[in-house]
Amino acid sequence: MQRFYPDELIEEIRISNDIISVVGEYIQLKRKGKGFFGLCPFHSEKTPSFHVDPVKQLYYCFGCGNGGSVIQFVMGVENLDYIEAVKFLADKAGILLPEGEDEKYKEIARKKKQILKINVEAARFFYEQIEDEKNSFAREYLASRGIKRRTVRKFGIGYSLKDWDALYKHLKAKGYDDDILLESGLVLKNKSGGYYDRFRGRIIFPIFDLRGNVLGFGGRVLDNSEPKYMNSPETMVYNKRKHLYGLNFAKNSSHKRIIVVEGYMDVISLFQFGIINTVASLGTALTESQGRLLKKYTEEIIISFDADTAGKAATIRGLDILDSIGCNVKVLEMPEGEDPDEFVKKYGADAFNSLINKSLSLVEYKIKALKSEIDTNNTEGKIIFLNKTADVLSKLDNDIEREMYIKKIAKEYEISQESIYAEVLKRIKPKKGFRAVVTNINTKSRFEKDKGKDEYQRAIKNERILLSLISIDNSLFNLVKDKISPESFEDEDNRRIAKAVFERLNSNKGLVPAELINLADNKNSNIFTRLLQEECNFEDNKKAILDIIKKMELFKLTKREREILNVISNSKDKTAEEVRNMKLELQQILYKKKSI
Ligand code: GTP
Ligand code: MN
Repeated sequence: MQRFYPDELIEEIRISNDIISVVGEYIQLKRKGKGFFGLCPFHSEKTPSFHVDPVKQLYYCFGCGNGGSVIQFVMGVENLDYIEAVKFLADKAGILLPEGEDEKYKEIARKKKQILKINVEAARFFYEQIEDEKNSFAREYLASRGIKRRTVRKFGIGYSLKDWDALYKHLKAKGYDDDILLESGLVLKNKSGGYYDRFRGRIIFPIFDLRGNVLGFGGRVLDNSEPKYMNSPETMVYNKRKHLYGLNFAKNSSHKRIIVVEGYMDVISLFQFGIINTVASLGTALTESQGRLLKKYTEEIIISFDADTAGKAATIRGLDILDSIGCNVKVLEMPEGEDPDEFVKKYGADAFNSLINKSLSLVEYKIKALKSEIDTNNTEGKIIFLNKTADVLSKLDNDIEREMYIKKIAKEYEISQESIYAEVLKRIKPKKGFRAVVTNINTKSRFEKDKGKDEYQRAIKNERILLSLISIDNSLFNLVKDKISPESFEDEDNRRIAKAVFERLNSNKGLVPAELINLADNKNSNIFTRLLQEECNFEDNKKAILDIIKKMELFKLTKREREILNVISNSKDKTAEEVRNMKLELQQILYKKKSI
């Protein structure tokens, strides 16, 4: 996480922006008991599950799990990065940012602006080339692929000359320095110190952001040579994981859904056929940031996959990420060997629209993928299929939805509803309270090396609850500091957060829950928020924290105990002396465990 400002300043900015009034600018909040509820801005819902706590100054959505302080809220709704959100809130509160720090930020802003200007210059230059009589072959290439002149203009499609440095010379003549040209990614430096153009002899597709800035470019060869496409590298203004090609047009389509395709040509072709709610992920799997961006403009995301990418584990993981941030994801599978561009040209818009209407929900898609990779013609295969299907269904948290799928799947794949129910039920755990979390750490037969194991997860959760409790009541730190060190936290993220927390409290600086949230990164801030809101409501915080300290000590001892047992049981290469020492340590551990 980029941090330009000291923690104290960020904290001042946070405190100066009451979460209720900031959130209230975006959604309607209704008071309910001690908190406020409203419709979540991060996922679509009809009944409010978005909760804001005025005392802890935190928000949390029970529907999609998004949560944090006012800073994370602004990051989400305004689609800003951390530092931008802090600036945004500082402006709101009329807090002046310190000169030196602000200078750094200004310098970055200045460079970004310059790169955007260079990009516009370049886009114009490329466009002029495609209009130029001497490059009529480039226009002809586009025409041969069915792209009309009007579309060329609309998408700003251009051509980059074959010369080594046509663009470089052009931009130099406009007065830009070599350094900033290098940073724009349009120009590269060769071994002897000369500069040359990245894009040469290619059809150029400018990539726009929502405000119409040119962020970068994609360039395609006109023949079959390799690489077929070349894209702008990551620059100060372009991050391929954060942007989507065509969103500047698609966002205005006022459609309830946006279709995500793989390539530039797919977006452009579909656009010509009137299907204008389309964006391209440009060859990478869709990311969480892209999902959040899309979610601001649409309720439903339809992902179109070529037959060869479909069903792959990485693909499904990407879909799960979108689902987990509350996107309503559907999957459109292209027929074997076609991409949307070819398909729509061959069969027309109606045919493509009917593919859209036939797209599968994420659950249906996952189960179809399972079916295609498991041979269900024998009993063993059937069982595997049933088990994996139950795994998928048990992750749904909506009972009605689950029931609907069970019926559908039973019919479609000829399995009895009862057997699916039975398997799903086995997998649904009753919701556990805190008691269940802190007990049972000392179970015997498990090995901690498996980080997925419940025991390990519980230990990590206890660490988080410990940190949360300290942030709620700083005096609890006195109970912790002599018994536990930040280094002894099992989880790497927790360890980092604990270090910061211990440092602050050791220097008597104080810490509030919202600051803890800010110390955690995005993924963890949601988790911490949930814990702070839902689980840290003990009658006696002191008792709770003493309990956790014990559990943490026990966990450590048990872990060491197992290590030793492991070594002793494979002790061929150990001397008798070593084994004796280990056995001694083992006894000490057992003694310590008893005394805890
Ligand atoms: P056409 O062959 O012109 O129809 O291109 P397409 O848009 O259908 O592209 P394709 O389906 O082959 O690939 C999808 C996307 O992946 C492209 O739009 C590019 O963004 C990216 N891509 C494809 N090939 C390459 C490559 O060789 N290098 C890089 N960096 N990206 C590529
Ligand atoms: Mn194609």
